[in-house]
Amino acid sequence: MSWCEPFAQICRPDQPLRDLTWYRLGGAARWLIEPRDELQLAQVIHAAQDAGVPWRVLGQGANVLVRDAGFDGAVIRLRGPCFEEAQFEQTRVLVGAGADAPTLIRNCLRRGLLGLEVLAGIPGTVGGLIRMNAGGRFGEIGQFVQELSVLDPSGAQRAIPSQEAGFRYRHTGLQGYVIVGAVLQLSEGNPSEAEARHREIWKLKAATQPALAQRSAGCIFKNPSGHSAGQLLDQAGLKGARVGDAQISERHANFIVAGPQATSAHVLDLIQLARERVSAVSGVELQLEVDVW
Ligand code: EPU
Repeated sequence: MSWCEPFAQICRPDQPLRDLTWYRLGGAARWLIEPRDELQLAQVIHAAQDAGVPWRVLGQGANVLVRDAGFDGAVIRLRGPCFEEAQFEQTRVLVGAGADAPTLIRNCLRRGLLGLEVLAGIPGTVGGLIRMNAGGRFGEIGQFVQELSVLDPSGAQRAIPSQEAGFRYRHTGLQGYVIVGAVLQLSEGNPSEAEARHREIWKLKAATQPALAQRSAGCIFKNPSGHSAGQLLDQAGLKGARVGDAQISERHANFIVAGPQATSAHVLDLIQLARERVSAVSGVELQLEVDVW
C-alpha cells in the first residue's frame, strides 16, 4: 500500500508546482496534499516520516524556486477555513498559517490594529512570512509574534513562545516544524495614520523594485552583514545580465525576473554567475534568501 493511500481524498499525484509559485517555474510535486484540519495534517506528516518521504509546506510560493525536475516528495498546502481564519481579541490576533498576509494587514489596519503595515507589499501566507521572518527596512514579522502553534518534527502539537522561535534577519529556527498558526501582538492606534504609512511603504517599494506582476521571488540573496546585496550586485555590473530568459532586474539588482521562456535552470545559472561575479569584485559570498526546492 502506498504511504498516502489513507489520504486519497486530499492527495493528488504528480501535480505541477509552477502555477503555485510566483515564479511560475519548475516541475511537479510527486504528491500535493491539502489536509482538512490540523489532525489530518499531523497524520500526513507522521505517515510521510514513517515512509521516509520528504515533505515541504508550500504557502503562496512567493519566496520559492522549484527546480525543473520538481520535488520528489509530498508538498503540503494549508488551505481552507481551518488554516486561514483570523480571530481578533483586543490587540491580539490569532491567525492561521494559511491566511493571506496582505489581506490580514488590511483587516488589521481597518480595525485600528497597528504594526503589520511595515510589511506592506510583501506577498505570501502568514506562515510563509513567519517561517523566513519576512520583512524589510521598516520591520519584520517576528517582532509581532507572541506565540506560534506548530507541529514539531515528530508531528506533535506544540505552542512555542516567540523567544524560542529563533527570529533573526530572514531566519527562524523552525526548520522541520510546521507552523499552523500564530498569535500576533499589535497595538491600538490611529488607523488613518497607519494606512498612510502602509501606502507610503508600498509606494517606496513600487519605486525601487520590479512590479509584483513581474515573475520573481523577491530578493534572491540576503543582505550580508554590513552590506546591501542589491548594491554589491549593481556595483559588479550585473543589472540586466541574462541567462536564457532570466534577467537581473534593471530596477533592483537583487531581483531575478523570469521571462516567458525562462526555466529554473536559467535562474539557477544566473544566481551562480552573480555569486561568482560579486565574489570576484568585492570578496563577499552572497547567501540565498530564496528557498530552492
Ligand atoms: N541599491 C543599489 N542598486 C540596486 C539595488 C539597491 O545600489 O540595484 C542600493 C540602494 O540604493 C540602497 C541599498 O542598496 O542604498 C539598499 O537597497 P534597498 O533600499 O532597495 O533595500 P534592500 O536592502 O535591497 C531590503 C529587503 C527587501 C525589502 C526592502 C525594503 C533584503 C534582502 N531585502 O532590500 O526585501 O523590500 O529592504 O524594505 O533584506 C525580500 O526580502 O524579498 C525583499 C525584497
